[in-house]
Amino acid sequence: MGRLMYVDFPLIISFAVLSLFQGVAAAASPHPKLQWHYYEFNTTCRYAEEYVRHQVQLIYDHDKSITAKLLRLVYSDCFITGCDASILLDEGPNPEKKAPQNRGLGGFVLIDKIKTVLESRCPGVVSCADILHLAARDAAKMAGAPGYPVFTGRKDGMKSDAASVDLPSPSISWQDALTYFKSRALDVLDMTTLLGAHTVGQTHCSHILDRLYNHSGTGNSDPSMDATVQDNMRKLCPPKTKKGQHDPLVFLNPESGSDYSFRESYYKRILRNEAVLEIDQQLLNGDDTKEITEEFADGFEDFRRTFAVSMYKMGNINILTGNQGQIRQNCRFTNKGNPN
Ligand SMILES: *[C@@H]1O[C@H](CO)[C@@H](O)[C@H](O)[C@H]1NC(C)=O
Ligand SMILES: *[C@@H]1O[C@H](CO)[C@@H](O)[C@H](O)[C@H]1NC(C)=O
Repeated sequence: MGRLMYVDFPLIISFAVLSLFQGVAAAASPHPKLQWHYYEFNTTCRYAEEYVRHQVQLIYDHDKSITAKLLRLVYSDCFITGCDASILLDEGPNPEKKAPQNRGLGGFVLIDKIKTVLESRCPGVVSCADILHLAARDAAKMAGAPGYPVFTGRKDGMKSDAASVDLPSPSISWQDALTYFKSRALDVLDMTTLLGAHTVGQTHCSHILDRLYNHSGTGNSDPSMDATVQDNMRKLCPPKTKKGQHDPLVFLNPESGSDYSFRESYYKRILRNEAVLEIDQQLLNGDDTKEITEEFADGFEDFRRTFAVSMYKMGNINILTGNQGQIRQNCRFTNKGNPN
């Protein structure tokens, strides 16, 4: 998860979508202030979701890394101060996106593009917070995740401060990670599931050097990492980068990473001690997290279904609705702070 962080649909209501909708609604009660297809039924922006999907498709067709970027943005946004699009703000002396844990965030340009399209079609109607969730859902679906329902009607927050960023390190223990998820009303199933977004993610080598060269200050590598994987990773991640050299990126799940597709291989790798990030490998250390990992490694459909529910639950964290917040004209600025 720290790692979600380090990472990087059609209108026809088919039977599959309906039953997924019912499954999600049954597993997680809908937020009372949000609504399915809010823009279609309650606003003048009937085709908002189609506009979003179209823009995501245009990007996805030539940059599949967009899925991981958007999922990480949702994670960073929702876990920090709630799903209020504060992660998108450039405003203020030290916005959330400048926090060290948010280094390497991407996807902002796509969100800007979507916002520009929506503002030209229906000005002042669609929030940046909803755009982020809709876009992440669409990109995840393009990568092989199920097309879960995104309930809409969120408003955008008006402040963003790096001091409120408490995203945990990727080397956190599973117990501490669970405490963190629980503080956001998510449970062990959500945590194990949302970490599965790492299936399409990448990380900077700096986040795994400790595992490769000097684990917890022992002078040795992390014994919970498979030796062959470790050798391969050492080739990609030298112990020190020279001055001016970039901190290299590696795939969190090399099997599906390079084609950016959702697969169960992420969980299979954990069972073989081949996870790249420590938090991912830690899933084997808890009884519940191990059991869920085994189940997902065996049953991709279980993972897909649970992913939909957990994404949906994450999208409910501390949202603003009604008279709270605003609809930003530009996702990078509050309406008051907008220089344009
Ligand atoms: C949106 O419209 C539906 C159907 O007309 C209505 O039931 C619902 O209460 C409205 N929701 C909001 C948030 O305005
Ligand atoms: C490993 O880390 C410890 C604690 O940070 C440090 O004292 C030690 O010098 C390191 N060992 C190597 C070989 O870098």
